Amino acid sequence: MEHATTIFWKSFVKHPRQTGAIAPSSRYLARAMLAQTDLSHTTFVIELGPGTGAFTEVILAALPPGASFLAIERNPELATFLRRRLPQVQVICDNAAHLRRYTAAHPTPPTAIFCGLPLSWLSSDERRAILDAVADVLPPGSTFTMFQYVHAAWTPPGRQVHRELACRFRRIGRSTTWWNLPPAYVVHCVR
Ligand SMILES: C[S@@+](CC[C@H](N)C(=O)[O-])C[C@H]1O[C@@H](n2cnc3c(N)ncnc32)[C@H](O)[C@@H]1O
Repeated sequence: MEHATTIFWKSFVKHPRQTGAIAPSSRYLARAMLAQTDLSHTTFVIELGPGTGAFTEVILAALPPGASFLAIERNPELATFLRRRLPQVQVICDNAAHLRRYTAAHPTPPTAIFCGLPLSWLSSDERRAILDAVADVLPPGSTFTMFQYVHAAWTPPGRQVHRELACRFRRIGRSTTWWNLPPAYVVHCVR
């Protein structure tokens, strides 16, 4: 199997905006993504934009036995790579904006959504469609956790992401991880 960093880099060269990064996230950022969510009683969790699985393996390790884990990845090469790497995860190759299709088929709503999508790099229409779908499928009290790169925080799209989150979530917390290329901050929201 090809190395995760190599396949990620090739994806960046082919689809720079969609991939949104030159390398997979670090294990420090993966831990920070999980730090504020208790998954010990969850029955259903979703990850958007898993890429090569930097967050996926940490989420998987935190799940109780029998929990469902769905990951939606748009890039077919990355989806195939992740299916081979972590066959326990249901990896769907589709646009995260179509999230409702997959939650409708599940008996319970998700208790948490983790997002690795490059939200500030996507078009504003696509970003809104994804955030609307996320807000629709998450019941009150459930969580949405995402990250952004520190350098993007003050760009117009980066600021727009925060305004769009504030319209949809009632509580929003932030923490920065410097050990990532580039440094990033986690945004943890409660519906
Ligand atoms: C910045 S990478 C993050 C990958 C991984 N979560 C990590 O942190 O290493 C963004 C990922 O989102 C995927 N992606 C971008 N737009 C998407 C969309 N609309 N629906 C699903 N996946 C998408 C990309 O193909 C890529 O794998």
